Amino acid sequence: MDSIAVFGLGFVGLPLSLTYAMYGVRVYGVDINKEYVEKLKNYQTHILENYNGKTIQEILKESIQKGLFIPTTSAKEALENTDKIIVTVGIPIKNGILQKEVFNAAIKSIGKYLKNGDLVLIRSTVPPGTTRETVLPILEKESGLKCSKDFYLAYSSERIAEGKAFEEFQTMPVAVAGIDKESRKKAYELLKIINKEEIILASEPEVVEISKLIENSSRDVDIALSNELADLTDKLNVDATEIIKVANTHKRVHLLSPGIGVGGHCIPYASLYIFDKTDKMKLPMTLLHTAREINENRPKEVLHTIETVLNRINKKVEHSKFAIIGVAMKNNSSDISESPAMRLKDIILQNGGDVSWFDPNINGNFPLKKDSIEEALKGADVIVIPIKQDNIKVDIDQWKEFTQKNAIIFDAQKLINKDKAEELGFVYLGI
Ligand SMILES: NC(=O)c1ccc[n+]([C@@H]2O[C@H](COP(=O)([O-])OP(=O)(O)OC[C@H]3O[C@@H](n4cnc5c(N)ncnc54)[C@H](O)[C@@H]3O)[C@@H](O)[C@H]2O)c1
Repeated sequence: MDSIAVFGLGFVGLPLSLTYAMYGVRVYGVDINKEYVEKLKNYQTHILENYNGKTIQEILKESIQKGLFIPTTSAKEALENTDKIIVTVGIPIKNGILQKEVFNAAIKSIGKYLKNGDLVLIRSTVPPGTTRETVLPILEKESGLKCSKDFYLAYSSERIAEGKAFEEFQTMPVAVAGIDKESRKKAYELLKIINKEEIILASEPEVVEISKLIENSSRDVDIALSNELADLTDKLNVDATEIIKVANTHKRVHLLSPGIGVGGHCIPYASLYIFDKTDKMKLPMTLLHTAREINENRPKEVLHTIETVLNRINKKVEHSKFAIIGVAMKNNSSDISESPAMRLKDIILQNGGDVSWFDPNINGNFPLKKDSIEEALKGADVIVIPIKQDNIKVDIDQWKEFTQKNAIIFDAQKLINKDKAEELGFVYLGI
């Protein structure tokens, strides 16, 4: 069977590599992080995925032992062994600025070893026009080869949700476009090995690039709308969840859940990738900017809501102890990128509050992280539940033993029964 190379072994690249390995394809997985590649060789990863009753660590071990997954830091080794290259290295954003050099460096390392007949398939989420305007010239410059004549280039966005990666690589429809028809055909064949659903053939890479961005930005807008609804219902003392349930009985309405903000890279970054292009064209993109602002401000507003109640019971954020239970960027995730819970933590600290947090899915040493829920809850004036982690036991009878009297619970997930919490003496706040 064929070999392929996958560049970037993160939340997308690793399970993608292992999915190909499950189909008998030998995968050279390339990542620049040496320490991480060593860990992978020892069957270790921070990523939480599972498939058919096996953890990603078990699948990783099996694939390496069968010789179907070869983690490496060497682009050269990978390209010497295959003519099909998939890129999953993303464009990180720091302080609102796109770190394009991270993605471009991966493309350069591919360009250096690119051969006649190779296919490069970009699956990273990128600003509109990146495949044609950035990837193509870098590959041509580094390799001295000509696109469409000597090598092939295509784009297919990645749509998986973390936690469902193995399943969705096989069942989520994907769209693909090439710089030319032959590139698209080759990319289609590569995708088809694992995708058993629909592969949509699009006319231009820009169609697929922009479609991906708007798929994510539309969720930003929808969540912002639900967050505004939650502000309204909070003032009116009506249950937002019930309103959403009722509204969604309309067959053409699909409101999303409000929360403490939008995390991860996918949704918040999508609009920023769009602005990267539209700012240059002086297009205002007012709706997308507004949605970003509403969702970015959520953690601040959550603290404001808590502060109002704290003040009512003669406490201040300053001198209060906050326990944040579950800090990943979304439910059942091990990813803290752009996590609204982590942003809330920073805002509390900036306001002079004291914070402990607990999340069994987040590995590694972090300041203020506690190893047990009891330690995090010890002496808490406020408990915040931003997300739902299935491996966190929510037992407020027990929690009561560790927290302050009249502790406030801010429950963004409706995990706790309000009446019961109040019976136990907690002050309950939900969204
Ligand atoms: N995480 C998701 O659920 C998801 C879903 C859809 C799309 N995406 C998109 O997929 C892309 C990857 O996302 P991710 O979550 O896997 O990112 P990630 O940060 O988890 O992984 C990226 C990996 O690339 C590696 N890398 C960086 N530079 C490299 C280089 N020059 N050569 C080889 N490896 C290099 C990093 O060390 C890292 O391990 C992004 O564009 C993202 O927007 C992510």
